[in-house]
Amino acid sequence: MLRKLLIGTALATSFAFSAHAADVKEVQMLHWWTSGGEAAALNVLKGDLAKEGYAWKDVPVAGGGGDAAMTALKAMVAAGNYPTASQMLGYTVLDYAAAGVMGDLTETAKKEGWDKSVPAALQKFSVYDGKWVAAPVNVHSVNWLWINKAVMEKIGGTEPKTFDDFVALLDKAKAAGVIPLALGGQNWQEATMFDSVVLSTGGPEFYKKAFNDLDDASLKSDTMKKSFDNLAKLVTYVDPNFSGRDWNLATAMVIKGDALVQVMGDWAKGEFHAAKKTPGTDFLCYRFPGTDGSVIYNSDMFGMFNVPDDRKAAQVALATATLSKSFQSAFNVVKGSVPARTDVPDTDFDACGKKGIADLKKANEGGTLFGSLAQGYGAPPAVANAYKDVVSKFVHGQIKTSDEAVTELVKAIDDAK
Ligand code: BGC
Repeated sequence: MLRKLLIGTALATSFAFSAHAADVKEVQMLHWWTSGGEAAALNVLKGDLAKEGYAWKDVPVAGGGGDAAMTALKAMVAAGNYPTASQMLGYTVLDYAAAGVMGDLTETAKKEGWDKSVPAALQKFSVYDGKWVAAPVNVHSVNWLWINKAVMEKIGGTEPKTFDDFVALLDKAKAAGVIPLALGGQNWQEATMFDSVVLSTGGPEFYKKAFNDLDDASLKSDTMKKSFDNLAKLVTYVDPNFSGRDWNLATAMVIKGDALVQVMGDWAKGEFHAAKKTPGTDFLCYRFPGTDGSVIYNSDMFGMFNVPDDRKAAQVALATATLSKSFQSAFNVVKGSVPARTDVPDTDFDACGKKGIADLKKANEGGTLFGSLAQGYGAPPAVANAYKDVVSKFVHGQIKTSDEAVTELVKAIDDAK
């Protein structure tokens, strides 16, 4: 028996050694970056890892916002088939960490000084129980307008500062025969736009109370009802073919001048960048009217799984590359987002990127940086899904009035909590 055990130990040891000697030089990554701009950004990472001798095993699951990707990830993890890393948003990282399937990058984090360079708002989601379980890739923000400049000039429009200004601008586009608002009728896009509408309608304190604290009184308030009224108003400016449209196709409508504006997170800028368009010349980026000074953020994180020992070196290489200053600049310039570290110069960023970096800093210091409920940073996934569902039913007429929408929202969030 003892002999058997010893042989077993010896075998295990030799396996461990041989496994170490034969580290798998491959990074397997699940993500939903399948649009032109997203693929271009991902190529920056693939290139950096290739330079270090790591092959890239791509697991793309199309679908903006990542719902389909997260379903695929769940199945992989349930089967014990962990990728090296997966793109994830906020509360999803914490869910997987709580389930005990994440790895531990703390040693790398210490060596690289992530504690000091990554803002606390992100560490809240990338560190679980004192351990680094994810590498933040970027900071996106959702309260933006993306406007075709030629169309803006044609209709004689100027930057809308208030919601009413915005409506007046959309009216001008309509009168000129241009589709005023490019929207993709998918629940996550509609909810992403509604995040901005709520911030604009109720102001920063209200957004925080309703969508980060899930305060009941705020959720059922007249201000929430007014927010739904404002959303309904915006939907009157959308073309009839919007149902099911992908977000990047909505961006393309603006790039081509078929539509005036899209309300979308700054991944939309990645599409303008991929189409070789320049801010100030070809397009304009403004904060959603009435939200200047506040930033609703999300951050793509690479959630790091507890992979077998022979895959850990590749994981460390991925995490180190992801948080290197040069990558943070090069990747985010292409992606449309801003760095997940506070010490990356804005030199290589275009005017919208520079504004994004400055806005984030100001919001972070001024207490007006809020997690996006639509994008996984306001509340856990069950609540976010309930929210997206109600907003979408309202946009598509299954919920008919703002009163009803408020009642349904309160109930759905309550059930999901
Ligand atoms: C992600 C972005 C992505 C967008 C559209 C968001 O949830 O944070 O990185 O570009 O979805 O796919």
